[in-house]
Amino acid sequence: MTVFIDPDLPADQLREKLYEGNLVVLTRLRAVADFVAYTRDQLEQLFAPHDPEHAHEHFDPAEMAKMLGPWKPSFIHADMSKKLVCEIITAAGLPAEYTHYDVPKPRTSFPVGHLTTGVAFAFPWHRDVWYSAPAQQLNWWLPIYPAREDNSMSFDLPSFNRQVPNSSDTFDYYRNNAKRLTTATQIQKETQARPGAIDHKPVHDLVVLPAPGEVLLFSGAQLHTSIPNTSGRARYSVDFRTVDARDLEEGRGAPLADVHCTGTAIRDFHNVKTGDAFDEQTVVRLFGPPPPDAMLVFAPPEAERSATAS
Ligand SMILES: [Fe+2]
Repeated sequence: MTVFIDPDLPADQLREKLYEGNLVVLTRLRAVADFVAYTRDQLEQLFAPHDPEHAHEHFDPAEMAKMLGPWKPSFIHADMSKKLVCEIITAAGLPAEYTHYDVPKPRTSFPVGHLTTGVAFAFPWHRDVWYSAPAQQLNWWLPIYPAREDNSMSFDLPSFNRQVPNSSDTFDYYRNNAKRLTTATQIQKETQARPGAIDHKPVHDLVVLPAPGEVLLFSGAQLHTSIPNTSGRARYSVDFRTVDARDLEEGRGAPLADVHCTGTAIRDFHNVKTGDAFDEQTVVRLFGPPPPDAMLVFAPPEAERSATAS
């Protein structure tokens, strides 16, 4: 496995490298720096007059959940957030015409002992494909303040394309959409289904720390985890995902060695150029028909209502 920094590769080969389990860091995209500045501005307003990296010293977990609950969906669905994501994608050389993206998710990781459930849940060892992501999914991860080895995330590269015991059989994308409506109100107890590796102890794990303004790309089939935050500082990162429509149609993607979940997240992706979702006929042809009462996508207005109801 290789970690490529600013590889001189055409977009098709770049995706291929990621599907093979390599990592890519892009350090020269102005659009990433713009996204960082935009997100910092929002966080600084949210926690003013406090430094966002030390916000947990000023707000208790309940207060923090109340602030982040409404902020996260408003950030996720803001037109500016989507515009900046599309700029990053095209600046990286992926064709707008064939690339579909999902909305950017801000992640917060507070020091151990603070808010660690609901909106600030730390993920165990997992692959995104255990959460119904397609084999073509590429993850884009960018830190908003300097990421550290004691508050970031870690990869188990040798487990790529190997079977790892996991609980993905408990996960159904459509059922999870329905359950997510209550997430932001959870402060102490985690109730969503969160598939993870069972008793996983990697032989070698790798931490890659791009600087703010840089972005790390990896396949949704990579085994990765959040590192428990013992840094004393809050960690803020944003991630989003892309899927190439041609790869999806032609079956090019990462290997799915040990995926047992049901449903698909593919309806969450929208074309960079047109904003359109994949048409339902294509989705059903590639992934099969959903159950009649399935909640196919998570409905944002309902999420915001839920988040502000507490
Ligand atoms: Fe993940």
